[in-house]
Amino acid sequence: MVCLLEKYAEYFPVTSKTPILSLGEGNTPLIPLDNLSLKLGVELYAKCEGLNPTGSFKDRGMVLAVSKALEAGASGIICASTGNTSASAAAYAAKAGIKCHVVLPAGKVARGKLIQALIYGANVLAIHGNFDVALDMTRKLADDLGLDIVNSVNPYRLWGQRSGAWEVCDEIGAPDWCVLPVGNAGNISAYWAGFVQYRRAGLIASIPRMIGIQAKGAAPLVMGRPFEKPETVATAIRIGNPVNAKKAMAAVKSSKGMFLAVSDEEILIAQKDLASSEGIFAEPASCATLAGLYKLRKQGDLPKKVRVVMVLTGNGLKDPEIVGKMILSPNEVAAEYETLREAILSC
Ligand code: F0G
Repeated sequence: MVCLLEKYAEYFPVTSKTPILSLGEGNTPLIPLDNLSLKLGVELYAKCEGLNPTGSFKDRGMVLAVSKALEAGASGIICASTGNTSASAAAYAAKAGIKCHVVLPAGKVARGKLIQALIYGANVLAIHGNFDVALDMTRKLADDLGLDIVNSVNPYRLWGQRSGAWEVCDEIGAPDWCVLPVGNAGNISAYWAGFVQYRRAGLIASIPRMIGIQAKGAAPLVMGRPFEKPETVATAIRIGNPVNAKKAMAAVKSSKGMFLAVSDEEILIAQKDLASSEGIFAEPASCATLAGLYKLRKQGDLPKKVRVVMVLTGNGLKDPEIVGKMILSPNEVAAEYETLREAILSC
């Protein structure tokens, strides 16, 4: 088994005293997207983070955050979440044998993610407030109760997530562009820090342009102001006041990148396209990346032949209900050979 903390031990803040946890995180496939590359006129790759143990990129940061919490003698962890952080925190807490508390927005977390947090044994508290409110309260609760917070305000979370950038570089070198969905703005900051660390180590020559995509209804970094009532079908990035805003803005500015907003409709079209043309089922937030590339191409802002990595942050199976909303359902056919044969021939 590839153990992320051991594989990149020299780049992580781990010591001989750090307990090395692992659920087999990282080492995710970087898949060349031939069909979409042709369509867009670029060299496009997908970093498939949905293949992490709990189905999202969060595992890269969580494995380090929980290992460091154990090293510091923590008895429990706490997080606010739009879903994936809670699934990941709950799994690593289970592995570590410590308690995990989760605060999340009631009715706004994809079913698969909620079920993960519950089955891994977390104490799941659903509040009638959005993620920003949940995170605010969680930070206070952590201080008050002496729990380790494992949101992306925890520096180890972001450090762990740098490994996604390192894996990309180890495989194809630094791409020209790196495109990520942006919610709390941690992952784009982490990837950038990962590229910077690799450049300092002399392993890459240049930093990719960092392109952050938000949903139109939750686009504080695109609009330059917090959104009090963020709303989007991509519930993972339904965030109005990102805690890592400053870091992400610095990453985008210094890499000559950009932030861009896409509509829910554009996200769902991209999700369907990605699945039906490349065989990859990613959750809506992840597909904001492809929607962003479509948009840039339409505007004439996507240079030909650039090498682009889009980070597909979460697995589509976490949010099956969204597919129902896209009015995708099977054809019901009588259990008769001739009818079935006809249904195949007429397709
Ligand atoms: N994509 C997915 C699938 C996510 O779950 C998240 C964040 C993001 C993108 C955005 O990453 O916050 O680092 O900018 N999910 C968090 C959670 C907020 O609670 O699971 P970010």
